[in-house]
Amino acid sequence: MPQTYQNYINGRWTGPRSGAWLERENPAAGDITCSFPDSGPDDVADAVKAAADAYDSWRFVPAPRRAEVLFRAAEMMLARKEELSRDVTVEMGKVLKEARGDVQEGIDMTYYVAGEGRRMWGQTTPSELPNKFNMSVRQPHGIVAAITPWNFPVAIPCWKLMPALVTGNTAVFKPSPHSPMSAYNLVRILEEAGLPPGVLNLVFGGDKTGAALVEEPRVSMVSFTGSLEVGREIGAYCGRNNKRLHLEMGGKNAIIVLDDADIALAIEGAVWSAFGTSGQRCTAASRMIVQERVAPAFTDQLVSRARALRLGDGLEATTDVGPVVNQPALEKVQRYMDIGRDEGAAVACGGSRATGDGLDRGYFFQPTVFTDVRPRMRVAQEEIFGPVTDIITCSDLEQAVDINNGVQYGLTSAIYTRDISRAFKAMERISTGIVYINAGTIGAEVQLPFGGTRGTGNGHREAGQAALDSYSEWKSVYIDYSGRLQKAQIDRPDG
Ligand code: UN1
Repeated sequence: MPQTYQNYINGRWTGPRSGAWLERENPAAGDITCSFPDSGPDDVADAVKAAADAYDSWRFVPAPRRAEVLFRAAEMMLARKEELSRDVTVEMGKVLKEARGDVQEGIDMTYYVAGEGRRMWGQTTPSELPNKFNMSVRQPHGIVAAITPWNFPVAIPCWKLMPALVTGNTAVFKPSPHSPMSAYNLVRILEEAGLPPGVLNLVFGGDKTGAALVEEPRVSMVSFTGSLEVGREIGAYCGRNNKRLHLEMGGKNAIIVLDDADIALAIEGAVWSAFGTSGQRCTAASRMIVQERVAPAFTDQLVSRARALRLGDGLEATTDVGPVVNQPALEKVQRYMDIGRDEGAAVACGGSRATGDGLDRGYFFQPTVFTDVRPRMRVAQEEIFGPVTDIITCSDLEQAVDINNGVQYGLTSAIYTRDISRAFKAMERISTGIVYINAGTIGAEVQLPFGGTRGTGNGHREAGQAALDSYSEWKSVYIDYSGRLQKAQIDRPDG
């Protein structure tokens, strides 16, 4: 029986005032897994009001106490890791092993941020005047709207909600309509961990719900992960209305393989980065930039490995690659096959929907490798978000770096080489936010900043210490204990 999930507003699970509901299907099998609210502006306003009411008490709960709630939530996530992971696979399709990684990343982030409750360092500096003390402290923004995608339905909400909450904000969480169960599971855990009513509110829905949330005047900060098109609109709105903003909008990431590379190792990284999560990671490697001398061998091996990948339900232990998320995603990938062929690229393997063997009711696409790809082709520039990668040849490191940097996104890059100087030169010249040496384009850990340059983001980073900067603002405090008026810049020994 499909489950019904409700919004969580002011500590209560409630149906939508809009009266409208959505459904989610299992992308591997097509059956309905659950229904959940298609929240309207009234529901959003209720959630924002609850967050506003809770803000004045939550912000004054000492940060170490706030962090204890998060620590308890991390413990509960760990205890329930297997069921959380299975729900991830059932609702968005990634294979169970990867779903466990997604949940683990959420747990890691939650523990990490819980530790921040007892740090959250500010600065103290000497004053230029006697009997005066200078320091800076972090202060919350107010109400944070967290709008999250389905591809990491546990990790990404944790990247956003945990630092938002530990720094004293209250939040309204609007998850993707393709991953409602994971959102419900996470909020339920935070409720059980002891988060007071109104501190975190959950409103389900699609784009319109997200837009209503962004436009709610009391929302002071928006944190969004999703497409470049939607992110740009949110950015324009927030710019006009002076809302704080964190954006994370995808990638067109590349693996550079130089002619001195360990090719077997590069192939492992390429298969994992191109086809893991069916290519539906912001960090997926959708371009292989390969030096001419090793390109034929690299291509042969990548194609034969792609052909051997077993498609299927992510809950089956034998499955290597699950479905894409839904019918429109499948159609988008299919469209890019025509776009690539029309531009002169060749499909070396894959190229169509996968059917038969229990795949007919799901959204499966064959792992695909395009060859004869030129850097300016659309398939080499646009984010396809499916199990598709390109092979682009290059003559040397310099050209490889130019091709790597010549896209509108700037999230991750990888380079395979045994030469330490080429590795360091590449690391300096590559302009993405994340660089891997002798590893694929995926595998970010929560203790370092995550995010990208150019069209990928707006300069903010998730995770690591950088997350605190996104979710708080600095307040500089001067304490004058001289008992008289002292004038900075003016009261100087030289007059
Ligand atoms: C994403 O694809 O949006 O490095 C997040 C990685 C993961 C996070 C990916 N740790 O691929």
